Amino acid sequence: MRGLLAAGLLMLSVTASCLAVRPPLSPAERGRRLAERTGCFGCHGPEGLRGAGNPGRTDRTVPGFEDDVMMFAKTRDEIREWIRDGGTAAKRRSRTWRAQREQGALRMPAFGDRLSARQVEDLVAMVEANAGRPEPEDSLALAGRRRAKELGCTGCHGPGGRFQRPNPGSVRGYVPAWDGPDFPELVRDRAEFSEWVERGRSDRFARNPLARYFLDRAAVKMPAFRRHLLPGDLDALWRYVTWLRTGAPAGRHEAAGNGGAGD
Ligand code: HEC
Ligand code: HEC
Repeated sequence: MRGLLAAGLLMLSVTASCLAVRPPLSPAERGRRLAERTGCFGCHGPEGLRGAGNPGRTDRTVPGFEDDVMMFAKTRDEIREWIRDGGTAAKRRSRTWRAQREQGALRMPAFGDRLSARQVEDLVAMVEANAGRPEPEDSLALAGRRRAKELGCTGCHGPGGRFQRPNPGSVRGYVPAWDGPDFPELVRDRAEFSEWVERGRSDRFARNPLARYFLDRAAVKMPAFRRHLLPGDLDALWRYVTWLRTGAPAGRHEAAGNGGAGD
């Protein structure tokens, strides 16, 4: 009996410490939430994926952040220039571009005076996450990223698994990102990763009544994908997630990879 009580108390304190240390949001997620408040999605469409019509211009719509970015910004620095200055130095030298900008009903504003440097960096991280940049060089990791989209993972976990969308009732209040600070706490190794994907939770969490309580209480639950996986999917997904956490695309969480939320 006393043993049970002690175990119960231990679990309670573990849960309480999980609740107390809500890790900060990742730059991409901060950028996503900031973009909502800053008006970006009014012109670039919901989450920047479907730009509004832009009469007067030959491209006819405001560019989105998914497929169009490459035509407008070759590098991270150029994405930053767009947001801060409303255009890149290279574009401003082009007479054709200046004429197009004049003719369009909608023009990209310069946000440099309204936002801090850190806020601009968060928006850059959000645009890069949507654009899938940088891109893994390794073909297995690339295949994993593609399968994550096809399987629907990116609906909840965001493009490339990089957003932390709200999840009412969950311990952290959001769906965890794969490059987030809490990943190592939830996924200790490849075996646990496979359990999450195949069954919707790890065996370690499924055995722990408190963990189970919180998983069941969340509005959005991780589905079990076992029936939907093709041979090789787990290898590819794991390779992609490992690349994301260690291949160091900047913009991922500062604390990612160094042991999780508690430190
Ligand atoms: C009033 C409409 C409008 C708003 C608001 C707006 N944009 Fe834009 N944005 C544009 C237009 C139009 C372009 C294309 C610019 C051009 O070619 O002149 C553009 C281009 C861009 C580009 C380069 C092209 C691309 O899609 O990657 C980025 C990045 C960008 N905007 C980010 C943002 C961010 C981040 C915000 C919010 C802080 C924002 N924009 C708010 C209209 C807008
Ligand atoms: C319906 C929304 C949803 C979909 C679709 C989804 N997940 Fe999840 N996933 C979640 C939620 C919610 C959690 C967190 C559970 C918790 O701890 O509260 C999670 C947790 C995870 C975790 C544990 C650790 C972490 O930090 O992310 C992994 C790994 C994971 N999901 C991978 C995937 C993969 C791979 C796919 C696609 C095959 C996928 N998920 C599809 C909602 C989803």
